[in-house]
Amino acid sequence: MPQTIAVLDFGSQYTQIIARRIRECEVFSKIYPFDTPAQALKADNVSGIILSGGPSSVFARKAPIPDPGIFELDIPVLGICYGIQLMGHLLGGVVAKSDHREYGKGTLKVTRPGRLFKGLPRRLRVWNSHGDRLTRLPKGFQPIGATDNSPFAAIEDLKRNFYGIQFHPEVFHTEHGVDILRNFLLGVCRVRPDWTMKDFVQQAIEKIRETVGSSRVILGLSGGVDSSVAAALIHRAIGKRLTCVFVDNGLLRHEEREAVETLYKKHFKIDVRVVDASATFLRRLKGVTDPEAKRKIIGRTFISVFERSVRTIGGGARFLAQGTLYPDVIESVAIGNNPAALIKSHHNVGGLPARMKLRLLEPLRELFKDEVRRVGEALGLPKEVVWRQPFPGPGLGVRVIGEITRERLKILRAAEAILHDEMMSSGWYWKVWQSFCVFLPVKSVGVVGDERNYAYVIGLRVVESIDAMTADWARLPYDLLQVVSSRITNEVRGVSRVVLDISSKPPATIEWE
Ligand code: XMP
Repeated sequence: MPQTIAVLDFGSQYTQIIARRIRECEVFSKIYPFDTPAQALKADNVSGIILSGGPSSVFARKAPIPDPGIFELDIPVLGICYGIQLMGHLLGGVVAKSDHREYGKGTLKVTRPGRLFKGLPRRLRVWNSHGDRLTRLPKGFQPIGATDNSPFAAIEDLKRNFYGIQFHPEVFHTEHGVDILRNFLLGVCRVRPDWTMKDFVQQAIEKIRETVGSSRVILGLSGGVDSSVAAALIHRAIGKRLTCVFVDNGLLRHEEREAVETLYKKHFKIDVRVVDASATFLRRLKGVTDPEAKRKIIGRTFISVFERSVRTIGGGARFLAQGTLYPDVIESVAIGNNPAALIKSHHNVGGLPARMKLRLLEPLRELFKDEVRRVGEALGLPKEVVWRQPFPGPGLGVRVIGEITRERLKILRAAEAILHDEMMSSGWYWKVWQSFCVFLPVKSVGVVGDERNYAYVIGLRVVESIDAMTADWARLPYDLLQVVSSRITNEVRGVSRVVLDISSKPPATIEWE
């Protein structure tokens, strides 16, 4: 095992974020249950221990308490939030009980930089989320930072190498949070920053092999980043025992199905079965114009088609693999005032695994999107897959406004292919969040040669965004817009006009439906 930092999990929803920040410092960490025996940590030869935060109070009847032996191992310990209170409580300090939690921003005044704040400013904006607080230090500790609410917001015992901080260094709202962690890892625990995504891949492969044994695995491949990376990773681990199902719902973009076949089947030699269900989807969508009704039909049809495919193609598979990421497991921490967001359970494919007695295999479950991209790169997936723009599950179904017909899909695909082509050749594809066309069921008059052309309108939607929660329309160069517009009206039969969407989100949304 590489040099390891143990993160003891006391139930904070930030525990995975601590692990992520440690990965950012190029150090390997492993999350352990809070009550892991000290001797087990010693046996794993860990270089440092981090006590995570947690929702409990040290006074609660069932408060999670670690093995006190962890303080006897001669290994550095950093307590975060609940972790600092545990240190106070277990090492002979005094913790004051509080009935309400304190959330939000505060300012930390660093009174002594010590090792933890080495090289950092003396005032830091920090994020608090705690109930109880430390009022008397255990023997051997010194205060090194204070906030308005607490003279002991940061403490150290240099001799034993114990450190505690009342605030959360792992959340984005804390300034230099990752630097504080790095100081602990590199400066206190003295680990080398040499762990990379290649190491993650290697470890993940071993774990997949261990979990799966000699069984077969089935995976729904959408062509998006998450399922593609999961497929490539699992294929590395178990080769031919992975079967991927790609459902053609008839709502794919120009040559999308062919691209998936070429890349995964030909290039990666992955067993991909394409299920052409386009006729079923389009039949069920016939005459439907309401956006929500369309979404529901597409979602339900996908589940039934996929379920049937798993039964026929994946007969004998014991695992259903999914590209679930950590943000699918926990809601975004950036929403609202309180980053202590609610945990939601990930919705797997319609209860399919339970119904079919399949076990879930989710090798990316601990990672964040940008990390998954790096894993994809480490696995040799092309830039076009790893950095592709998001594409909604219901596909072109939410981009044909009104009724979905083959003719309309054909027009939209042709227009979209031109936009894509020009975005790629100008390099703008990589600079924006999403760029796509919308089919408008509106006819307008144009002229082609000497003839009146009464045909449809195509809308261009190109947006910039960080996380799709808000978005602004991209200021594309006029010359680029001009080429796209004239190519679409000249080359796509059935289109007489191209319009540009200049709405931001909010109040508009990114997709039109
Ligand atoms: P909106 O339109 O809500 O889109 O501003 C935000 C982001 O989500 C994508 N999107 C979807 N993705 N199923 C999906 O998988 C959907 O039904 C869906 N609707 C929107 C959209 O492309 C954008 O990135």
